[in-house]
Amino acid sequence: MTREERLQLAHTPPAWMYEFDLGDGIRTPLLSPELRRIHRTRQDMILPALEQSFPEGLARLDCLDVACNEGYFSFLLHSKGARVKGIDVRPLNIERARAVQRIQGQDPGRLAFAVEDFLANQDPPDRYDLTLFLGLLYHLENPMGALRILHRITRRMCVVESQLTRQQAPLVSGWGETGRFLELPASLAVYREPDTEENRLAAHRGLSFIPNAAAVREMLSAAGFSKVEPVAPPADANPQYLAGDRAVFLAFK
Ligand SMILES: C[S@@+](CC[C@H](N)C(=O)[O-])C[C@H]1O[C@@H](n2cnc3c(N)ncnc32)[C@H](O)[C@@H]1O
Repeated sequence: MTREERLQLAHTPPAWMYEFDLGDGIRTPLLSPELRRIHRTRQDMILPALEQSFPEGLARLDCLDVACNEGYFSFLLHSKGARVKGIDVRPLNIERARAVQRIQGQDPGRLAFAVEDFLANQDPPDRYDLTLFLGLLYHLENPMGALRILHRITRRMCVVESQLTRQQAPLVSGWGETGRFLELPASLAVYREPDTEENRLAAHRGLSFIPNAAAVREMLSAAGFSKVEPVAPPADANPQYLAGDRAVFLAFK
């Protein structure tokens, strides 16, 4: 691609979710500067966890990056030797991921991107050694359906990252008869996303359910994962992770 074509790719709106180096000093402009630290924090949380969980390394492991957007974490897994497929429901995100791959030259035999709705996934059981499920759970109308698919196609381990509500005390609910109550530590908050058409980072349907931390654990366990572990944020993490408004979980098959 010529320098002019790369400049045009980088600077044609909308601004990017990730800052990619397109060569000759051309970098894709971020839509929000905070994203830089969010991505760095997630990378710092996820890579050591993968090193621990896959001591043999990621080389030749099959990985799926669900809702990859412009592919940053797919590129990261590829750089560690994995075979990676990145999927996203929005064509523009996948066009950009493919363009970055053409420019940076990652091996097409080990990295492929596709436009797919994860809820329509048809992969066979245990298709991927490792799945990434970052930034998607709280954008879905059917989060539990998605986690059941995730469990079906994951052979060893899944990394889940999500926004969280701040609910810590149990919610109280009436249950069946007068004076009988349930105390429920896990909950989902309903959010009608206002910008599904124009926001490439959002849900592609209107309604989302934002979980609290207890709900993420409960749902992953109900989907069939045998062990769910939160990953502690580093001291220099983006403040959202330090405040518990976002978190990373490891879910083991
Ligand atoms: C907040 S972004 C997260 C991107 C990336 N996973 C990350 O964490 O850096 C949410 C992404 O989910 C995608 N998305 C939303 N619903 C989806 C679905 N049903 N299937 C696949 N991708 C979806 C959006 O297009 C968007 O790229």
